[in-house]
Amino acid sequence: MQGKVVLITGATNGIGEVTARELAKRGATTVIVGRNEEKTRQVAAAIKQQTGNQQVDYFIADLSIMDQVRQLAQDFKAKYNQLHILVNNAGALFTNRHLTPDGYEMTFALNHLSYFLLTNLLLDTLKSTGTPNEKARIVNVSSSVHYSAKLDFDNLNGEKRFNGLSAYSVSKLENIIFTYELDRRLKEEGANVTANALHPGVVNTGFGKNNGGFAGLVAKGVMAVMRLFQISAEEGAKTTIYLATSPDVEGISGSYFEKCKPKKSSQESYNQDHWRRLWEISEELTGLKQHA
Ligand SMILES: NC(=O)c1ccc[n+]([C@@H]2O[C@H](COP(=O)([O-])OP(=O)(O)OC[C@H]3O[C@@H](n4cnc5c(N)ncnc54)[C@H](OP(=O)(O)O)[C@@H]3O)[C@@H](O)[C@H]2O)c1
Repeated sequence: MQGKVVLITGATNGIGEVTARELAKRGATTVIVGRNEEKTRQVAAAIKQQTGNQQVDYFIADLSIMDQVRQLAQDFKAKYNQLHILVNNAGALFTNRHLTPDGYEMTFALNHLSYFLLTNLLLDTLKSTGTPNEKARIVNVSSSVHYSAKLDFDNLNGEKRFNGLSAYSVSKLENIIFTYELDRRLKEEGANVTANALHPGVVNTGFGKNNGGFAGLVAKGVMAVMRLFQISAEEGAKTTIYLATSPDVEGISGSYFEKCKPKKSSQESYNQDHWRRLWEISEELTGLKQHA
């Protein structure tokens, strides 16, 4: 990975942190994104110390806020002119419906819109970095919970009804739909960039611990039971690291992976009308159309 630049969101904990450490260990210039300055600085310092790689850098952004996603892309581009691997990993489950300052429901904003906007804003750098023999890679961390999700374009913001787990499952379906439409567009252009999505497994991380109140207690209870079946963050990061680095997947794009193997995603995720419609709505909501 020497000479490669990687950008990983949600790298201050769990799967993202392990991914960042592993890529740094392999020599990549590893740029992590966190929302808390102090924690992010400490994680970056720890990765440097653990791996001996001094090329570990960080940026701060609350990715649920679109202006901060834009600022992140701008700051990254001001410092780096290459990006070999983008890992969209930051995500969370919210048991209650909260709106971001942009007026978007938190799950939708953080788990889907931030993947969409950050990727699109960095796409020119990814395209100019990739070569026919070594394509730039986009890795989108999704989840197997998407199998239960249905996309309802009249309720993207949870405005008609809201259930935290359903909203989370839908956002993870959106990660896959976004990946497939992105891949379709990249192939149409002949771009030297690949895009894949994955399920990491059921992983013991900070996931699900962010919620307060009764619903939060229930979520924590569910997580405590699930913990009995959970794999470690090291194990959970394996498919992300595989998609980011393995020569086995050079040129492979538009696929969903689990346990480092391609797998069919839900039937709903292959609906191409959904691909186009979600893309167009996301373009409008993130202001990407006006800024393009
Ligand atoms: N754990 C599982 O079983 C599981 C299963 C399937 C899929 N996934 C997916 O895996 C990905 C990583 O989750 P994880 O399990 O590693 O969870 P985690 O330990 O809670 O880590 C989530 C990361 O996202 C960051 N983050 C949360 N909200 C953010 C915001 N508003 N702006 C910027 N960063 C934010 C967190 O930052 P802080 O450190 O500041 O909190 C943390 O670095 C997620 O996309 C999740 O949906 C997880």
